[in-house]
Amino acid sequence: MASLTVRQLDEHIKKRLRLRAARNGRSVEDEVRTILRAAGEEAGPEALEQFTPTGKQPERRDATASEANHVLLIIGGGIAAYKSLDLIRRLKERGLSVRCILTKAAEHFVTPLSAGAIVGRRVFTDLFDPTGEFDVGHIRLARETDLILVAPATADLMAKIAGGHADDLATTVLLATTAKILLAPAMNPGMWSNKATQRNLAQLIADGVAVIGPNEGEMAESGERGTGRMAEPLEIVAAVDVLLRTRAPGVLRGRRVLVTSGPTHEPIDPVRYIANRSSGKQGHAIAAAAARAGADVVLVSGPVNLPDPPGVTVVKVETARAMLQAVEHTLPVDIGIFAAAVADWRVAHAGEQKIKKKAGKMPELLLVENPDILSTIAHRESRRPKLVIGFAAETENVTGNAKQKLIMKGCDWILANDVSPQTGIMGGDRNTIQLVTATGIERWPPQSKDDVAAMLIARIAAELDGNKA
Ligand code: C5P
Repeated sequence: MASLTVRQLDEHIKKRLRLRAARNGRSVEDEVRTILRAAGEEAGPEALEQFTPTGKQPERRDATASEANHVLLIIGGGIAAYKSLDLIRRLKERGLSVRCILTKAAEHFVTPLSAGAIVGRRVFTDLFDPTGEFDVGHIRLARETDLILVAPATADLMAKIAGGHADDLATTVLLATTAKILLAPAMNPGMWSNKATQRNLAQLIADGVAVIGPNEGEMAESGERGTGRMAEPLEIVAAVDVLLRTRAPGVLRGRRVLVTSGPTHEPIDPVRYIANRSSGKQGHAIAAAAARAGADVVLVSGPVNLPDPPGVTVVKVETARAMLQAVEHTLPVDIGIFAAAVADWRVAHAGEQKIKKKAGKMPELLLVENPDILSTIAHRESRRPKLVIGFAAETENVTGNAKQKLIMKGCDWILANDVSPQTGIMGGDRNTIQLVTATGIERWPPQSKDDVAAMLIARIAAELDGNKA
């Protein structure tokens, strides 16, 4: 059957449709869908069955499209724009409904025709396009979307978004939206490391914008290497998945997950100990989220003031050595998440009795190093979890230290956060994470520790799914 588009309709019908759509606050396409659906329901199921040759359940294409998550892809003007065409394909493969805006600069790299052919619908380019304004309009483009993805996000676009500019369709939509925003920056390494770009990046993250990449590697300019390559389409799609949480509950069903949480207490004598300020909130939230996702979860926890998360097996320990023992005992697991703030040192010889205070005489405490649990598990030759995830609580050079830690500890991912007292993260309810992997960095927006946990679980599910494919 030939397909029908709104453009093929008579002018007077189009006009009436537009007026009706505007009155109902819908796009013309959605208005047509609503009319067709109402007509189908009025005529009864038999009428719909006439269109299915086998007489089986009719395909509910419209319903699926309207239930799908809507992603608005803004393609910025950079050489990486060519990858955005593949990105559209990948997004659509995931069942997402995709709309696309090209900036003026992007049109130097890809054409509205090529992007439109892959999106399968018209691409938007102009803020003052009278048809565009009537059919969809920038405010509706901003509203009728669950996520806006900017890929590639150029240095200029990032600066404009951070500054709240609205001088073209893309920036106007970005300013008007309440949807989540994900940026996939791509630019020359010098531009990326420039203080202005880093200042804009910090502002955007503080404003709740999520960022994936850029990755390190070869640049388009011959002989140039560094950080500035746009994340690969599959990495971007995984980040989109995570932000939309399109996945059904139960994404970790059949997986065994180990989480460490809380501080450890290292005894000096039976009443005194060395400790740290970790509350265990993040680790416990991760264990709870993994259990909600259907995983079989073992939480090895140091001393905390928190209830046991529901549906989780909790093993309570005091010291680093006891934690390592409990962790080893829990193997094999599919995923190991090491969120505990393990004490680096312990007292070599803890007193068996309370050490007595003697005027003017200080007890000498000889410290020895504790085992590194994360590193021990990540370097195992047998029964190493498929995914080993560590944390890096830093007070300076967060990204640099996290990258180093990833290598030193031999783990697959590091969730880095800034725990300087002014951030309020240690012991607080919120967290700002940078996910550091071998291929790049994802900057997650500031959010509650529960949301970080949910995002991590969705990210893990996407990773394990990707590895299966
Ligand atoms: O070396 P640092 O303590 O910064 O490393 C942090 C990461 O290493 C966290 O994931 C923490 O759980 C883990 N760790 C560990 N055993 C230690 C020290 C840290 O598992 N003894």
